[in-house]
Formats: sequence, structure tokens, C-alpha cells
Amino acid sequence: FWSAVPQGPADPILGVTDAFKRDPSKHKINVGVGAYRDEDGKPWVLDSVRKAEDILHEQRSDKEYLPITGLANFLTLAAKLAYGADSKPLAENRIAVVQSISGTGALRIGMEFVASFYKGPHTIFLPDPTWGAHPAIAEKAGLAVKRYRYFDRKNIGLDFIGMKEDLQNADEGSVILLHACAQNPTGVDPTKEQWKELSDLIKAKKHLAFFDMAYQGFASGDVDRDAFALRYFVEQGHQIMLCQSFAKNLGLYGERAGTFSMVTSSVEEKERVLSQLKRVIRPLYSSPPLHPAQLVATILGSPELYTEWLGEVKKMADRIIAMRSTLYDKLVALETPGNWDHIKSQIGMFSFTGLTPEQVDALAKSAHIYMTKDGRISMAGLNEHNIDYFANSVSKAVKG
Ligand code: LMR
Repeated sequence: FWSAVPQGPADPILGVTDAFKRDPSKHKINVGVGAYRDEDGKPWVLDSVRKAEDILHEQRSDKEYLPITGLANFLTLAAKLAYGADSKPLAENRIAVVQSISGTGALRIGMEFVASFYKGPHTIFLPDPTWGAHPAIAEKAGLAVKRYRYFDRKNIGLDFIGMKEDLQNADEGSVILLHACAQNPTGVDPTKEQWKELSDLIKAKKHLAFFDMAYQGFASGDVDRDAFALRYFVEQGHQIMLCQSFAKNLGLYGERAGTFSMVTSSVEEKERVLSQLKRVIRPLYSSPPLHPAQLVATILGSPELYTEWLGEVKKMADRIIAMRSTLYDKLVALETPGNWDHIKSQIGMFSFTGLTPEQVDALAKSAHIYMTKDGRISMAGLNEHNIDYFANSVSKAVKG
């Protein structure tokens, strides 16, 4: 039956982890996948998460199916975290929220909904570059993919003029995917003033703002500051869509906790939208997993655990920021050719180093350092024990 099935290519991000695991070297470093590591390079299960697990263990709850839309308490708390406690559409009960299989699942639900019901063009504009999985999710959901300029490779910063031009020239009512904060892979975000301009432009063009928020709290260490763009757009009356992931900020990578939500114009419209979101979800996976939603709800719903978690997000963000400074200092001290200011100015999990695909290959081969082909590094993979080796190896690769 399957003799003609061709070998598929390795995943550009998760395939890096496979290659890393196969390498027997004791010096090896994985800065590929965006997953937090502690000072010793180990995955970190947050204390707030461990405590929530203990509480859930004590509760001995049943394992019944969740409703198609997910755990109600989780949805309320997750929406409050994203939109803010004083959000107007939240208070007016006109945000449709459903639980998702983390951010990827949210993207798929949202994009399928757009493909089924959106009256505007079924084209989604993605930033160039964007997270590697975005184009395939959009295409599988039935949307055409176009790009808007985002990153200025020469100046290693935001191509704001190019971005505005492309959004201006897009057909009216296009769907525009925006990274809410800590853009993946570049680590370059618009400033507050630039977000305000983008909001005006997107509104004037009647575009649909489709936010992907995978790093709330991770960019600055402050969950409210990182939600600025999303909340500003909502305040300005945009009926945004939002994909929310708890993989990074709660360290729940494998638990797959997330939501998809959209602002509607009335309670009645929200109910109709929800009825159709259920029809997207049911044939995909019936209903979402119970445990991740219980975990997140336990933390967000307990004042003590919530405060502890905020401290833990900040700790992760601060460690990454400290690694940026150290790496910058070391590359400069080693007289590595080029300007490395961007290592410090970029934010979030990643730094878009500017290393070429050849340098990336050379680092894997000769130094056992693994990163994605585009030169993106997950800063979380660096720590006091491996940063000298990393900086020396990068410096050598750049010098050729
Ligand atoms: C990443 O970009 O490394 C993460 O979002 C993990 C993933 O699924 O790609």
C-alpha cells in the first residue's frame, strides 16, 4: 500500500532536537527549540506548577470528558490574563473563548473558522520571517498565505516602512497575523508607538488582526506589559482573534494548554460563533484534555500560586536577559567581526543572530552546537557553564 510514500523532510525546528540527541559529544549545546532551560541546562518544572499538581492529586477529580469548548473556569481565567481584568468586551461577555491544544491547536481552530466563515479574502498575511509552522497550519486550514515585510536583515531590526507598505497594499479586509510580543524568530517587536500606527492602518484597511501570543510574560517578565499590543487593539475596537499558549510562560510544553478566542460584537453573536467553533473542534479531536486546563486554572485561580508564578516568569525572563548581556560581552571581547548590539536589544526566547546557513552547519559539525538553519538561537539554551564555549565557537565560525 505504502511503497510510494516518500521520506518527508525533518521538521526545521524539532528536527534540530533530534540531531542534538543523536550527537554523543559531551560539549553539545541545543539552542534550537524554544524551550526554557535552567542555570544547569535542565528543563524546569515551575514550583507553582508542582504545587498545583499536588492540589489536583488531593482533589481526586473524575476523568469525565470536558465540554467541546473546554474547562469553563480555565477559559475565564485565561481570557482575563490575556485581555486584562478591565477589558470591556470581557465585561460585556462578548469574547468567544475555547480551549485549544496549545498555540498550534489554537491557530488551526482560528484559521479553520476564518476559512469557513470570513466574508473577506481568505488570505492570511504572515510576517517574513515567522514561526516555521505558521504557513503549513494556514494552508492545512484552507487559507492562502502571503507575506509582509517584517525584518530588515541589513540593519537587523524591524522593517517598519516595508511592513506598513505591505499591509497598506494588501486587499482590504485581509487577515494579518501579528506576534503579540517576542516575535519568533527575530526577537524584534514594534514599539508602542509603532503598534499604535499599525492599529490605525489595520483599522483603515478593515483588516482582521489575528494575534499569536505564545510568550506573554516572557518578553519583559511582566504579563501586562507583554499584552500591550493585544489590549491596545481591543481598546481601539478591533474585533481581534487570539491564539494563546501556556507552553512557555508556565513551562507546560508537553501538556498542551492554550485557548483560541475572538472578540465579537454582542453576546448573541458570541453564542453563534461558539456554536460554530464547536463544529470545528468536534471532528478534529472531540474535546480538549482535562489535566492541562485544571493545572492552569489552579494556578491562575489561586492568589498565592498566581503571585508565585508571576515571580517565576520574571525569573525566566531575567535569566534570558542576563544571558544576552553575557553573550554580547563575550562576542565583543573576542573581537568577533560585526555588530552584535541586536543580541541585547532583541527580546524574548530567541535571538536572530545573523549567522549564515553555512556557519550554522559548521557550528553543528565542528562544535556540536545545534540551532535552526536561519541562525535563530534559543537564549534559554545558554547558561554560565556553556556560554564561554558557545561564544568562542560562534566567534571562530564568524571569523571563518
Ligand atoms: C519554537 O519555535 O522553537 C517553539 O515554538 C517550539 C515549536 O513547536 O516549534
